This record gives sequence, structure tokens and C-alpha cells, in this order.
Amino acid sequence: EEAKKIIIVEDPALPAAVNIKIRDSVQNRTKRIKVSGWVHRLRVQKQLVFITLRDGTGYLQCILAESLAKTYDALTLTVESTVTIYGVISPIPDGTHAPDGHELHADYFKVIGKAPGGDETITNIVAKDADPQTKYDNRHLVIRGEQASAILKVRAGVLRAFRKTYEDLGLLEVTPPCMVQTQVEGGSTLFEFNYYGEKAYLTQSSQLYLETCLPALGDVFCIQESFRAEKSLTRRHLSEYTHIEAELAFINFDDLLSHLEETICRTINNALSDPLIAGYIAELNPTFKAPARPFLRMTYADAINWLKERNVPNENGQPHEFGDDIAEAAERNMTDEIGLPIFLTRFPVEIKAFYMKKDPADLRVTESVDCLMPGVGEIVGGSMRMEGLEELMEGYKREGISPEPYYWFTDQRKYGTTPHGGYGLGLERFLAWMCDRFTVRDCSLYPRWTGRCTP
Ligand code: 4AD
Repeated sequence: EEAKKIIIVEDPALPAAVNIKIRDSVQNRTKRIKVSGWVHRLRVQKQLVFITLRDGTGYLQCILAESLAKTYDALTLTVESTVTIYGVISPIPDGTHAPDGHELHADYFKVIGKAPGGDETITNIVAKDADPQTKYDNRHLVIRGEQASAILKVRAGVLRAFRKTYEDLGLLEVTPPCMVQTQVEGGSTLFEFNYYGEKAYLTQSSQLYLETCLPALGDVFCIQESFRAEKSLTRRHLSEYTHIEAELAFINFDDLLSHLEETICRTINNALSDPLIAGYIAELNPTFKAPARPFLRMTYADAINWLKERNVPNENGQPHEFGDDIAEAAERNMTDEIGLPIFLTRFPVEIKAFYMKKDPADLRVTESVDCLMPGVGEIVGGSMRMEGLEELMEGYKREGISPEPYYWFTDQRKYGTTPHGGYGLGLERFLAWMCDRFTVRDCSLYPRWTGRCTP
């Protein structure tokens, strides 16, 4: 009752407050500032209210003291309410803890929007131990959390790091279409839709379009969403994911592997050279170390032997034989035991896509590579591409693909063909590895998988 009567106004005798974001709080110590954000944490004591304020750029400890602590707004404050707080930021004594080692002593504050308390308190809606479905239903609230937002910040940092790598290596960024009429990675995972009465698909990969850019723009890359109607629910399959793809002309298979290793290692260095990003990675994955070079290279045939020797069964529960797909479980078995990035090379023609170049030294296999990472498995798939027209026509036939809609892709072999190759890297898988997440779902802003297209 008494609290309701205490109304505080801003003291007109104080200097005007400079509006800041929390990331700029260190350089704005000692002057009077105002800062707006969400109440991330809250501790109400008799004479003091401690707020950890969050504005997306950082966290700031704020203190409401004396009469401010006794106002109705202070006493009824809830987490996730929005506030603007005015005052001066000063360092805190050594041995005490607060973000950036300082705190804001408020001389005035305003509530912008009050969040519900009680049953509807955010921590009740998405409790730490809530079941995963509840958490994904409330993904819009979960991303406010420290861990979820840290992953999204690493994601932004890694995207920046990839772009810098490609810029430094001289690849040009392009943005191919997402609505297409050709498949790349097999008909079974195509999302089909009605395009003005014609059959069209959401793209599975921009590879074929990147290939057409080589004669026009030189080496290229793209960062684009890819779509896969995956039937299986696994912790590394999404229905929509961010696909980082590159294509290079006049290279051989060894050049492709070197470029891929260079791209991955440079990107990790670029990301870690940002202290904020390095800090988030250290929090999420304290034992993360940039991988040593060169990456282990292993042929598919050697991998099959490796699995056979260790009695790791294939998908049908039988011993592995040359020609088998290496399923997720078997792959994980390898990466977990070896514990290092692996370039798995030279997969059989039959289990790979129609466009892959055969190894001239062994026509049973392709010049193909998967990059496997511990904890996640395959994060990259790439290959050299067929250069010859005849060979490509056979490839279409083998896979039962009608060549007509691919006329523009076929034309690359007609109008000045070149040896060339490229790859696609799944950003969410890369992040799951870097941030040590159990599932790629937590590395996507709003993940989509079988049965989930919301929020
Ligand atoms: O191995 P994939 O299918 O290769 C291609 O699409 C090539 N056309 C790429 C190219 O050469 N330009 O997919 C490449 C990568 C995989 O290694 C994986 O990291 C990721 O894309 N990926 C997925 N990530 C999440 N959910 C899915 N359903 C994925 N399918 C593939």
C-alpha cells in the first residue's frame, strides 16, 4: 500500500542521459546514461533490487536502491519485463562478480512493458527441465536464454567468418534460386509444390547453378537455404538448413581437398579471432580446439575394412561390404573412435549422385569426399564433376533422370567444358560440432523437421 504512493520522477537537475547499448557500457562508464532492455534476472531485497538487464548486445547488472527500490514498479517487477534504466555505471570491487566487472546505479527507471508473473512466468513456460517438444513450441522464448542466444551469436560469427574466408580466397558470392525444377540429390527428399500450374521443387542444393557461374564469374560460393523432405528423424537432419556451397574451376581432386581443408581451418581461425565469438565457443564447448592439419584422409574402401574389422554392422545388421552405404551409426562409430576430422574419399558410383566424376584410376568409384567430424559425422559432401557430355548423359540414365529439364546444366559440357569440383557444407552441423550440441536443431533459429513447421 505504502509502495503504491511512492512515485519517482526523473531529477531535472541531473545531466541529460546518453542512450547506450549494453555492448558499449565499458566506454560509457562515469557519464550519466540510459539503457533499455529486458529483465533477464531479478533479485528483490528489502532495500535493493538487483536486475540483470539484457538487450541482445550484452548483460548489465543494475541496482535500484533506496526510494527507487520501494516503488510499486520495483516491487512488482517481473523477469522479461522491458525497462529503461538511467544512472551511472561504475566498476565493482575486485572479488565480486558482474558482467564486464561493473554495475549501473540507477537514479531513475521506467517500465515499458510488464511481463506476466506467477504461472505465466517465462521460467514456468519453458522450465530448464521442460520436455523438448515444449521447448521447441516455445522456441521464440527459448532463444532469449543465455545458451540459445550464444549459439545464435556463434552462428552469425561463423557466417561472417565463412564470407571472409571466401573473400580472401577469391570466390564470388552469388544467390541462386530456391524454387527450381531439377533435383540434385535424389527424388526421395524433394519438396514439391505447384508453381503456376507447373511442378516445381524447393532446392536441395545450389550446386548445379554454381557450376553455371564458373564461366561467367570464376570460382563462386553461396550461402542459401536447402530443403530436404527427410523421412527419418535424426539429430542431424533438418527439413530446411543453411547450405554453404562452393564451386571451383580448373582444379583436380587434390586441389579440391586442399581447398576444403583451407576453407574449414581459415573459417575457424576467423571465428576465433573475434574475442566475443571465441568467448561464446569457450562457454559452449570448453574443450574446443581448432583441428590440426592435414586432416586424416581415408578411402571409402579402407573405411569399409575398418568397420568390418571392428564388427560394426551395416544398415541390415550384416557385416559391411564394398558398395554399402555407411549409415549414420557406423559413421559416428568411426568419428568417435578416431576423434579427428576425416576426409572420407572415393565412394562407389552406385551410392553417389549422377553428376560425380569417376576416378580414372578405379572406375568403380568417384572422386568424391565427405568430411566427418567427431560427435556429428558428415558435415560436408563434395566431389569433382563430370566434364564429358556422353558421361553425363549416362549419369542421367543410370539415375532415371530425364535430361530435358537439365539442358542448361548439360550445356556447361558443350560450351567450353573444364575440370571442376565443389562441395556443400551444412552450417547447423558445423555449428553442432563447434558448439558441442547434441542436435543440429539447437543450431537453427527456428528449426524445421518432419512434423514441425512452427513457430
Ligand atoms: O551431401 P549433400 O547431400 O551434398 C550436396 O547437396 C551437394 N550437391 C553439395 C555440393 O557439392 N555443392 O549435402 C551437403 C551437406 C551435408 O554434408 C550436410 O552437412 C548437409 O549438407 N545436409 C544437411 N544438414 C541438415 N539437414 C539435412 N537434412 C541435410 N542434408 C544435407
